[in-house]
Amino acid sequence: MSKNRQWLINDRPLGRALQHEDFKRVDSDIVEPGAGDVLVKVLYLGFDPAQKGWMENIGGYVAPTEIGDVMRGSGIGEVVASQHPAFKPGDKVVGMLCWQDYATLPGHELEAVPDDELLTANLGALGTTGMTAYFGLLRHGRPQPGDTVLVSGAAGATGSIVGQIANIAGCRTIGIAGGAEKCTWLTDEVGYDAAIDYKNDDVRQRLKALCSQSVDVFYDNVGGAILDHALAQIDMHARIVICGGISRYERGELPAGPQNYFNLIFKRASMSGFIVLDYIPEYPAAKQRMREWIANGQIRFREDLQEGFENVPATLMRLFSGMNFGKQILKLD
Ligand SMILES: NC(=O)c1ccc[n+]([C@@H]2O[C@H](COP(=O)([O-])OP(=O)(O)OC[C@H]3O[C@@H](n4cnc5c(N)ncnc54)[C@H](OP(=O)(O)O)[C@@H]3O)[C@@H](O)[C@H]2O)c1
Repeated sequence: MSKNRQWLINDRPLGRALQHEDFKRVDSDIVEPGAGDVLVKVLYLGFDPAQKGWMENIGGYVAPTEIGDVMRGSGIGEVVASQHPAFKPGDKVVGMLCWQDYATLPGHELEAVPDDELLTANLGALGTTGMTAYFGLLRHGRPQPGDTVLVSGAAGATGSIVGQIANIAGCRTIGIAGGAEKCTWLTDEVGYDAAIDYKNDDVRQRLKALCSQSVDVFYDNVGGAILDHALAQIDMHARIVICGGISRYERGELPAGPQNYFNLIFKRASMSGFIVLDYIPEYPAAKQRMREWIANGQIRFREDLQEGFENVPATLMRLFSGMNFGKQILKLD
């Protein structure tokens, strides 16, 4: 059998942007599966901003990483050999396959997925990304028909699904994203009622014009100044959902707290954070619902497919410059 190409964690990118030297490329032997294990050939990798935080051991909600570990990341693969009764060669699976050609891991850490036209969606709309949009919005945002739902990072993998679930819930939706192309996509194809281009528009003025004091739900993927501007426009009993804060992920010093947080008092509003992993027991029902929405055209998604093992680190970096358009995926060669 061939060698196992791997990317290892070589440094911790704390307080700075990722760089190529943060990863080390090695060849190692493929690990034969022991009792209960499955050997998987990795076909696709999915990329999430959180992977940078995992390298930094920030947050404490996942097991710590060590320098020299194979870089952690979700993937879709095909079973090559199995010592687990639930899997047989040829099955397609999703799991934390990491940045390598072959993953050997316990069968209970894998999920079998249908080998259909939605295969790669198991890394996006039907995977953790879709679950983040679903539980973050429905459990924390609690949208009601007629609400105005504002979303930052709206053209991203998570944000684009959030807007569509809010539309299904009967809400008016406003998305904030970087660049005219992404904003046009939001209004013309995703179904957002309006979009704000934070790279070219005056966000404060545009928010005032579109939703002055009338934001019922703010689903925030970005933090920083955008969170502050959004807090200035909330309505009574608004719900602020803190999903992520990508504007701070490359910064050495913490940004100043939002000046407009006192609006939470005046508007009797609430702000809550969440980690999607807490909802794992409820994933099956939510995924079934997402499948139905995708099948009947209520949820659309876009995938940004890169290729090639050598391009894996650079593909993660695309998320932090907004180069990705839709769920960032890479097909291994
Ligand atoms: N709480 C949870 O359990 C959980 C789970 C998964 C993900 N998340 C969070 O959800 C958010 C979205 O993740 P995703 O996987 O869907 O990624 P994504 O939105 O597909 O990709 C990241 C996007 O962030 C935007 N961005 C990058 N730097 C920015 C900056 N300085 N200011 C404003 N926007 C910036 C870029 O879009 P533009 O081109 O528009 O700038 C980029 O496309 C992240 O904050 C992530 O940490 C949270």
